[in-house]
Amino acid sequence: MTAGARLKALLGWPLRRVLDPRVRMTVHEIDARLGSENLARPTLHDRLDDLDRIGRDMLAGLGWRDVPAPGGGLEQLDAPRAAYLNWATGPDGYAAQAGLWFNPPVPVHHEAGAVQPLLVNERIVEQPFVFGALAELTQPARVLDVGGSESTLGLSLATLGHDVTVVDPRAHRLAHPNLTHAACRLDELPAPAQRFDAAVVLSAVEHFGLEHYGLDATDARLDLAALARLRELVAPGGLLVLTVPFAQDASVDDFQRVYDEAGLAELLRGWQVRRSLRVGRTDRLTWELGVPSRERHGVALVTATSPTAGS
Ligand SMILES: C[S@@+](CC[C@H](N)C(=O)[O-])C[C@H]1O[C@@H](n2cnc3c(N)ncnc32)[C@H](O)[C@@H]1O
Repeated sequence: MTAGARLKALLGWPLRRVLDPRVRMTVHEIDARLGSENLARPTLHDRLDDLDRIGRDMLAGLGWRDVPAPGGGLEQLDAPRAAYLNWATGPDGYAAQAGLWFNPPVPVHHEAGAVQPLLVNERIVEQPFVFGALAELTQPARVLDVGGSESTLGLSLATLGHDVTVVDPRAHRLAHPNLTHAACRLDELPAPAQRFDAAVVLSAVEHFGLEHYGLDATDARLDLAALARLRELVAPGGLLVLTVPFAQDASVDDFQRVYDEAGLAELLRGWQVRRSLRVGRTDRLTWELGVPSRERHGVALVTATSPTAGS
């Protein structure tokens, strides 16, 4: 093929694809193929299965022979696809870039012919602790979720009937009539007309003021300032549910602070602690109730109340 012919073929390729009758599918045709014009309420699964099939047919029509068939067996998972899936579903993948990655308690690892638990992280105990602590609130309570962008917690609480505000400068892509996103740092949040009944701070405050999130790299102990500010934002007698990394020896780096007993007491100064648990990681997949061993990190789970006038 001459250079001119090669260029012509290259330029013609996208055009041919657009004009290809196999690709020219209007919304009506898609509806017709889904059969949805006859179905008053097709189930979501019907739609997704049909869309998946249509997508595969189209790709096959365009010459993509290598799309795994629906229901394809795990034994067909090869190393390149596994590596792609690990990246694509992880904290740097497409969903994360679109603000739709929610740190799963059990991330999985794909490899050739297998999928394994990668680890069990602290969310496995933090999330149930928060839900348990908030179970005493009668709906609709006003709940502030501090640093909750990367989480479905606010959406769950909103769906349970609470009036939820997520305060986090990063994008929050989940929506619900009971959910508001204040796209700012906690120290920038204007005082609300009515104070919150409860604040949730789940694995968030240990990052405040540090470099990792690039939001406020001052390390001016914004964690201490945050807990003091929350005492103003939460109504007297209102609830704080706090989870932070915990170890027998405190430490700090660009990513997070790890609190020891003294550091936790300093963080909670002015709050009346009601319940305070430690959960330690014993190996990659296991967390157990109790103070973590000296060489390992764990998590502190705390409920406290904001002081009342007489307390
Ligand atoms: C580890 S993530 C939080 C995890 C989340 N709460 C969960 O349940 O998985 C820490 C969050 O804190 C947010 N953040 C950092 N500094 C903040 C600040 N000063 N005020 C509010 N949010 C902040 C970050 O944008 C990030 O989304």
